[in-house]
Amino acid sequence: MAKNKYYVTTPIYYPSGKPHLGSAYTTIAADILARWHKLLGDDVFFLTGTDEHTKKVVKEAEKSGKNIDTYLTDITKIFKEVFGELNIGYDRFIRTSDKDHKKFVQHILEVVNKKGDIYKGSYEGYYCHECEAYYTEREAPGLVCSVHEKNLEVLKEESYFFKLSEYQDKLLDLYKKNPDFISPVYRKNEIVNRVKEGLKDLSISRTDIDWGVRLPFDKAHTCYVWFDALTNYLTGVGVLEDKKLFKKFWRANVHIVGKDILWFHSVIWPAMLMSAGIELPEKVYAHGWLTLKDKKIGKSAGNATDINELIKRFGVDPIRYFLFKVTPFGEDGEYSEETLIDRNNELANKLGNLVSRVSSLAEKNGIEKTNNLLLKKLKLKQIGKLIDNFEFDKALNDIFAFIDVCNEYVQDKKPWETKVQEDSEESPDSSKLLEEKISQNKKVLYELVDSIKAIAILLSPFIPGTSEKISQSLGFKLDYKEIEKPIIVRKIKKGENLFNRV
Ligand code: MSP
Repeated sequence: MAKNKYYVTTPIYYPSGKPHLGSAYTTIAADILARWHKLLGDDVFFLTGTDEHTKKVVKEAEKSGKNIDTYLTDITKIFKEVFGELNIGYDRFIRTSDKDHKKFVQHILEVVNKKGDIYKGSYEGYYCHECEAYYTEREAPGLVCSVHEKNLEVLKEESYFFKLSEYQDKLLDLYKKNPDFISPVYRKNEIVNRVKEGLKDLSISRTDIDWGVRLPFDKAHTCYVWFDALTNYLTGVGVLEDKKLFKKFWRANVHIVGKDILWFHSVIWPAMLMSAGIELPEKVYAHGWLTLKDKKIGKSAGNATDINELIKRFGVDPIRYFLFKVTPFGEDGEYSEETLIDRNNELANKLGNLVSRVSSLAEKNGIEKTNNLLLKKLKLKQIGKLIDNFEFDKALNDIFAFIDVCNEYVQDKKPWETKVQEDSEESPDSSKLLEEKISQNKKVLYELVDSIKAIAILLSPFIPGTSEKISQSLGFKLDYKEIEKPIIVRKIKKGENLFNRV
């Protein structure tokens, strides 16, 4: 049977500092989806990377005393290391300074220009250097950027424009025919209303920055960072260089983005693709922000949320679990150390405890095959639907409800007790009864081991390192199809401790 394909992307990050918990958040979310689809047996492509043609990079390189290339080589290495430590299994880490990408940006500019969607003009507007974007007075009340809380600057420059205004009806039609194109739906209305108010053409070139891709039809201009960056989703799957890969994976199944960049992905990006005659992605999903004292966590959040520090204290999986257990994915969530500690201890007390008790009893007493009736209490289909619907917190709640069921089962059945009849005298049947009790215990342990298999498989997109350890100690493959296949009876070896209580 032909496999399904799944293509998921993260935004590409400005490498003006090392990755912080906020950038890790988007990337882990995409990793969860990629791992979930691999588990289902799909062919998956997961793209992440860095957005390098920005003034911020030029400034940071200057500050560090390195030339831009060295600065970028060093910082992207750090990105890859941190993503590696967080167990993020991307297929390509794209950099907008990659050769194939620059070539493609020029190509798409040519195509859109030939289509007649680019013209030369001059632009005057209110610009946020941090967002690299112009805003209207309505979008930025008081002429202060609502994301960075900095004053906007008036800029005037000669520029090429993309005729975004011509795509208003087509975009409204897209949203109407594909009600989930912008998800979650509660974020859609704002975008639709803004598009209904009318679209201004988009300035897509700059003359005040050398660092970037030159317009193929006017070398005095460099391409605006967003027009350049968005096309990474095509380069990433080989649009120019690997036709087979591109045909297989494009269109993207989902672009995961933060709510702050939804406009670029749900308005500008589809309009660019329509102009270039390229198929549109299936969906853009905007998540909320991870906040600290109600402010978006960013570069300046400091040590409290430093990824390496947190990994040292908690390990990777408690962080991954905490980020998606507490807050619904679409909404903002406040970071707090107490909540992280609570979630860490929840993992230890519920999952860690179950696995440790059951595997040590199973190691000592062995298991005996039986029908696992416990598994009926696992809401398997519902959990799958919730993950497909980006409701990670609810999926985790359902998995943990089943862990509770298993812990209660251990308590109830006490599969370590071998006393048969407390006050009866030696009877000819007592050794038979004992045998039966031992066999019952082994069957209870079989049900529990088989249930832990299901739990570890379902948790593997969220806490892959832990699931891997469990699968090695109990002897099963991390594959969705294994959930309903009874586990094979074998000798079990208790594994190492999974979590440390903090
Ligand atoms: N370079 C652009 C994206 C171009 S994509 C074609 C950009 N980069 S960014 O580094 O500023 O942000 C990248 C992503 O990280 C965004 O989706 C943003 O929402 C996300 N996050 C950055 N801080 C965040 C939090 N504190 N919380 C959640 N996500 C956050 O925009």
